[in-house]
Amino acid sequence: MSRKTFHSLNPATGKSLGTFQSSTKMDVNKAIVAAQKAFVGWSETPAPTRGEYLFEVARILKKRKEKLAQRMTEEMGKVLKEARGDVQEAIDIFEYMGGEGRRLFGFTTPSELRQKTAYTIRRPIGVVGIITPWNFPMAIPAWKISAALICGNTIVFKPSSDTPRSATDLMEVLQQAKIPAGVVNMITGSAGEVGNEIVTNPSIHAISFTGSRETGKWITQNAGIKKIGLELGGKNAIIVMDDADLNLAVDGIVWGAFGTTGQRCTAASRVIAHEKILKQLEEKLIKRVQKLNLGDGANKNTDIGPLINEKAVEKSIYYSGIGRKEGKLICGGKPLDTPGFFFEPTIFSRVKPHARIAQEEIFGPMLAIISVKNIREAIKVCNGIEYGLSSSIYTNNIRNAMLAIEKIDAGITYVNASTIGAEVHLPFGGVKQTGNGTREAGIEGIHEFSETKTVYIDYSGKLQKAQGID
Ligand code: UN1
Repeated sequence: MSRKTFHSLNPATGKSLGTFQSSTKMDVNKAIVAAQKAFVGWSETPAPTRGEYLFEVARILKKRKEKLAQRMTEEMGKVLKEARGDVQEAIDIFEYMGGEGRRLFGFTTPSELRQKTAYTIRRPIGVVGIITPWNFPMAIPAWKISAALICGNTIVFKPSSDTPRSATDLMEVLQQAKIPAGVVNMITGSAGEVGNEIVTNPSIHAISFTGSRETGKWITQNAGIKKIGLELGGKNAIIVMDDADLNLAVDGIVWGAFGTTGQRCTAASRVIAHEKILKQLEEKLIKRVQKLNLGDGANKNTDIGPLINEKAVEKSIYYSGIGRKEGKLICGGKPLDTPGFFFEPTIFSRVKPHARIAQEEIFGPMLAIISVKNIREAIKVCNGIEYGLSSSIYTNNIRNAMLAIEKIDAGITYVNASTIGAEVHLPFGGVKQTGNGTREAGIEGIHEFSETKTVYIDYSGKLQKAQGID
């Protein structure tokens, strides 16, 4: 042990909530050994029994939901009702993956040859590394941990250093659910020391990572031969057509852009508005955003909580400086002059599609509005970015909706709903630089954490050759 520690801060006050271990490479190695030892027992436990453990985790999470949500709000600032949603998402995925214990389907298929049969089974990968961000301190670790566990893997888990307490809370629940020792091993500490070792150690056979594109690239270049799952963010757009219900669109934009203070990979950071409704949309948005209360997420009347840390505030200040040159500031634009890490919900309009604020992931309460002439141009602008996670279109015209579904390059498209709020029984992930093709949650979530084995059984009693060789 390094004996060094770090603080986790309440972003609404800047005060410390406690200290956590800055673990070392040695600690990661101990965790790997523990996970290797636990692997035999866990992988041989029948999958339906593994599912029972997951149901138990869900049951305890349900019981503790309110307390866990309160502690999460304290640690990362999201408003209490959203923190409840975060815990609920964790409950949902543990229940969903618990059910997978009685499925984990392979498939059977005929063989080319007589008296021969063929089918597939799923096998665990081994010891897997899970590295998670702070913005969904329960839900994202839960997506990954539940899927890894049901497939029979054991885990070395590094949570974000901004939310070690929420991760510890989750570990306590796993412990209470009596998941055997060594099956899930959490290590807190820096990316440079702990993350680096998890990614590069050859005894870890798969990595599942959610976080920045830069780190995702680094993982791809340094992990060696491992299965890698990446979810690296977005620059998600809401298209608003001239035939849309504008009030509904405004609801969706405000929720998508400023919910969780814009700190979701799925957050709406661009609005692509038909030029005919641009002015009206701007006016409605300004009116709505001015009514939003910025404050401590623990207070009942708060709509928008703080950003996660000082660096995030600096990033928003930096981009609002750029935005002032690239567009017209129509609301917000500055940090609050109070303790804690607050930044006003900010909208720039009349932004060009290739402006930096319309291209780069800011991960704060900042929205760029771009105007277009028709659906084709809207889709072109929507696709004119390096990412491809979520997307949305508000329209009452079926043709516009169907074109958007068909042509938008993204892992998720919503129609008449915002870009956020994915449900756990459907696949989640993106295209282009958002990821490398893996999907989390839903049935596809188990692909990330299992390997397919193909089985051939020949009961003809003689040598038979495939491909027609006699
Ligand atoms: C993320 O920000 O990485 O769809 C996850 C949503 C949430 C998950 C977001 N269910 O907005």
